[in-house]
Amino acid sequence: MKIDKQYLDSQLDTAQRVDILLQQMTLEEKLGQMLQLAALEEDHESFIERYHIGSYLHALGEDVTRLQQLNRQQSRLNIPLIFGIDAIHGHCFEDHNTVFPVQLALACTWHSDLLTHIGQVTAKEARASHLHWTFSPVLCMARDLRWGRCGETFGEDTLLVTTLAAALCRGYQSADYPLAACAKHYAAYGEAVGGRDSADCDVSERRLRSVLLPPFEHLAHNGCMTFMTAYQSLNGIPCAANTWLMNEVLRDEWGYEGVVVTDWNNCGQMLSLQNAAPDMKQAVYQCLLASNDIFMSTPEFFEHALALVREGSIPQARIDTSVRRILRLKFELGLFDQHSAPDRAEVLADPRRWQLCLQAARQSLTLVKNSGVLPFNLSPKTILLVGDNADCLRNQLGDWSFVPGMAAYEDSDTHRADTVTLFKALDKLCSESDIQLEFAGADCVGPECTLSQFDDLQRRAANADIIVFCAGDALKQYGEFHDRADLNLSGNQNAAFEALVQTGTPIVSVLLASKPHCIEPVLAHSQALLIAFNPGAMGGTAIVECLFGAINPSGRLPISFPRHVGQLPVYYNQAPGWHASLSLHYDKDDHYIDLAKGALLAFGEGMSYSEIRYAEARLTKPHIATTGSLELHIAVTNHSARSATEVVQVYKQLCVPGVSTVEKQLHMFRRVQLAAGQQLELVFVLQASDFVVLDKALKQTAYCGKVILMVGKSSKAEDLQDLEFYIE
Ligand code: NOJ
Repeated sequence: MKIDKQYLDSQLDTAQRVDILLQQMTLEEKLGQMLQLAALEEDHESFIERYHIGSYLHALGEDVTRLQQLNRQQSRLNIPLIFGIDAIHGHCFEDHNTVFPVQLALACTWHSDLLTHIGQVTAKEARASHLHWTFSPVLCMARDLRWGRCGETFGEDTLLVTTLAAALCRGYQSADYPLAACAKHYAAYGEAVGGRDSADCDVSERRLRSVLLPPFEHLAHNGCMTFMTAYQSLNGIPCAANTWLMNEVLRDEWGYEGVVVTDWNNCGQMLSLQNAAPDMKQAVYQCLLASNDIFMSTPEFFEHALALVREGSIPQARIDTSVRRILRLKFELGLFDQHSAPDRAEVLADPRRWQLCLQAARQSLTLVKNSGVLPFNLSPKTILLVGDNADCLRNQLGDWSFVPGMAAYEDSDTHRADTVTLFKALDKLCSESDIQLEFAGADCVGPECTLSQFDDLQRRAANADIIVFCAGDALKQYGEFHDRADLNLSGNQNAAFEALVQTGTPIVSVLLASKPHCIEPVLAHSQALLIAFNPGAMGGTAIVECLFGAINPSGRLPISFPRHVGQLPVYYNQAPGWHASLSLHYDKDDHYIDLAKGALLAFGEGMSYSEIRYAEARLTKPHIATTGSLELHIAVTNHSARSATEVVQVYKQLCVPGVSTVEKQLHMFRRVQLAAGQQLELVFVLQASDFVVLDKALKQTAYCGKVILMVGKSSKAEDLQDLEFYIE
């Protein structure tokens, strides 16, 4: 049959092009578009002929152009392949590309524009490798820190996750050669029971709608081209087969028309893990009832979907709906029209990407304690640097920095040329000055390390003027399938730290880790503590700049640190109702009877080298109508001789009749620069219409009643001033 090639005419609008093409496709060709398989699998070229496959993931290097070329020769209608990749903090699977700090580190910046720039650079690098689609941003929330994937998230707060994810998505999709973004993992993946990756979770609709779904809803409404389902079951129904989540909420309620891809063999896991389908055909059927468009890594989808359509269990129209979305994505990304891509050599030669990488690392560093020892001055000194993570490429860059199978990753050369570890940066600085550097890797991260080195360590510590203790976790201790029951520093790190404390030499600790740990002793006995969630390739440089005062730290924690793993969950916006304070034996405060109150480090916490003072805040009106607005004025002053960044945070407490409502919730924030000595009068405009709540019947309703606002520099009560007004 003669092919009507009008769909290749870029003058026609996308809907027309899609229709012309779709009409000419066989059922097999349509189902092939709904399949995505890994290019890392053996014999992956054969998928083109065998399945008319529409998409690969994890294709790298020349394989990409080779597959596309092969597809051009074999695909009857010449429908281009779309290539997906996990470029989640840069397109890091390829050497020499930029490895940005991980999402959790980027969340410490509270800086949307930075995220947008990172998205744009990542898009350029991925598109230069002929890839079109990144499985990012991650919108999950890290509320159980035992979960292995906390570092992939933007932390624990709905507003912060939403704001940063939207900014990153904007960056990917607004680049000169756009990279399709993917909001994942839909939904509630981080709530898996016990922090056990992909285990079932039971989450009420109220919690879903008030905490976990808003970031997804925002991205659905703001053009995020694709979504990915989560692995786990939500209230007993696997997400990929969850028609309430996928059809009623995502498609009907939010009107989302983008492409939804399952996570890796979500469909097959209904059989192999979840006991939610008696056979593969039923699993495919269930996933087709929910509105998945692309099945990732489930090759069996092809034959079973074919059978289901042929026997009439699944109507052709259902398949057409998905294929239409997929073709639209391919047209919108210009895959039918554009054979050009940014030149990789030119992209890599651009030094601005490293400046951005360094800027991101700098802004991610979060100082949480400083008893005056920082910044170091450059007078002659001996510094003893202790800890494996001070010179470990893998542990510095973290997850998704290398090809999949990261935990088992052994090749130590990828990114080596471009990565500056803390040791490397400190060594450089010391060799250019009169500072003497001693390095004791001490092998104290892994469980296999021994205590035998401690005598030597103590001797060296006693001779040093200052110790930089670099603690943390190792790549094999986190990520997919790597959850932990114990959040203490692993191996002999605590023992090494104690040995160092005994020498009396002042200690500055750097936590170079994927996520919060229980570090109470380290916090208590260090003179200063800097949190550096996997800070990317330039992390070492940024840390040294921070220690020596070349930069003024500006990060704020996007996640709370527990004192003890048994205290989880420890996120700041807890529901009230714990009546521990009724005890007559203890101190009339809410906490476990065997643990001090509250998080060890709170959401929003972080300091600079400048003293920033907040004047008394005021509201312009005591009452507003539901259509009205008022202003919150607050002056902040930098009482120091250096410029500083402050993140001014506004929290709210509402009271919804019949509903137990959290004690505080981040409502707004602003990241501001303050020159030395500068005072800034900040004005936050508060619209009554932004105070939308879920009423007792789960209906979104304009809020009426008293609003308690809390403004200040962290979520801690002592850092906040309270004000109130009424919406009437
Ligand atoms: C599984 C992970 O859960 C997901 O985040 C990732 O994008 C896919 N595999 C593809 O690698």
